Amino acid sequence: MTTPTTSSPLALGVATASYQIEGAVAEDGRGPSIWDTFTAEPGRVVGGDDGVDACDSYHRVEDDIALIRGLGVDAYRFSLAWPRILPEGRGRVETRGLDYYERLVDGLLEAGIEPVATLYHWDLPQALEDEGGWLERRTAEAFVDYAGVAHQRLGDRVTSWATHNEPWCAAYLGYAAGVHAPGRSEGAAGHRAAHHLLLGHAWAREALPGAHVGIVLNLAPVWPESPEAADVADGVDAIRNRVWLGPLVDGAYDERMLAIAPVLADPGLVRPGDLDAIKGSADWLGINYYTPIRPALGTGEGEPHPEQGAYPGVERLDLVVREPRTDIGWEIEPRGLEELLVETHRRTGLPLVITENGAACADTEVVDGRVEDTDRIDYLRDHLAAVDRARDAGADVRGYFVWTLLDNFEWAEGYAKTFGLVHVDRSSPSLTRTPKASYHWFAEQVAAPAGGR
Ligand code: NOJ
Repeated sequence: MTTPTTSSPLALGVATASYQIEGAVAEDGRGPSIWDTFTAEPGRVVGGDDGVDACDSYHRVEDDIALIRGLGVDAYRFSLAWPRILPEGRGRVETRGLDYYERLVDGLLEAGIEPVATLYHWDLPQALEDEGGWLERRTAEAFVDYAGVAHQRLGDRVTSWATHNEPWCAAYLGYAAGVHAPGRSEGAAGHRAAHHLLLGHAWAREALPGAHVGIVLNLAPVWPESPEAADVADGVDAIRNRVWLGPLVDGAYDERMLAIAPVLADPGLVRPGDLDAIKGSADWLGINYYTPIRPALGTGEGEPHPEQGAYPGVERLDLVVREPRTDIGWEIEPRGLEELLVETHRRTGLPLVITENGAACADTEVVDGRVEDTDRIDYLRDHLAAVDRARDAGADVRGYFVWTLLDNFEWAEGYAKTFGLVHVDRSSPSLTRTPKASYHWFAEQVAAPAGGR
């Protein structure tokens, strides 16, 4: 999918991530991850939920593949759990963990579905966090070893790889805002983590010879609510978008980013050669899009938006969310995706893949064997139309993945927020799967000539 074929039809797929679906957290030698630790701490996750069982995909790989196959999609994006493969983060390899992903990949290929593997979707081995996690350069070094081990086993069958998923979340929600694992609220620590994540990405590419290596970013259009908010919006844009694109495209952190985060000019952190290594290190760019960001000039009164802490150094920031919204409270605005694709194409020139797009809907009830999630269908239809407009405007978009196959563990929101095309009955011991109306609708889109596009 990520190979150069600009004029080909848009490839369609579905996406998941290891901790959100696998369960089996103590099985076949898997080591603990930072999300096992975080979810065990009272008050961190809505409802006290955790990934201990999740969707039990570790034991239901055939069921998952059958569901993906039923959609008729071109590709499946999944992530490998680092602590299944290197339980201590580095060193000893757990082959049973690799066996699981090999079964998955082989099953996908037999079904004619392209596997697209993400190496890091947030489940850092706890042993590495105990040494400082992404605040330490040696975590990036360990990531390279892990990438090499994964590629050695799967690289003959998987050609499209993403290093990191949404490093903004890993760095800033994890180390600055404290709302994701490891739950640290240390402001500037987010910037340190960001640099090490970028470094790990760039170095890991060298450990994946012959592969098409991308990075998945949750870039967002940033629309100031008023002219007075232009400056805070620029700060948000720096931390959300430019902190990644600057090094990847230009080999530099821009001036505003350096003003917000002087640590990024510290040669102890950003060492000679680092930025040269990062520049040009993505063969393709994954974009996860859900909603635009609307910064306003804050008064300092009222409840802060939970993500405000994820923009450390941006003073007097308020985040406004307009209607209409999905069930997780995110504004629905397909024009944001269109603008983002056109802009990112212009900025990077890289092949783009929408690695996630989808909606949380209040659809937890199965009635007569059906889940009528018409709001999700509307969301997906309108966003696919936005992708078509962006392609018509010249953006080089190769693929589109719906988030997500199954209702799953939605991080700090637990299981209550459901994004799946397939309902999972958490009250049934077998975690019964029921394809929703959106599943059948998406299958029709895939089956239409050239996916209808
Ligand atoms: C971003 C993340 O990559 C994924 O893990 C998450 O579930 C969705 N977006 C929805 O929040």
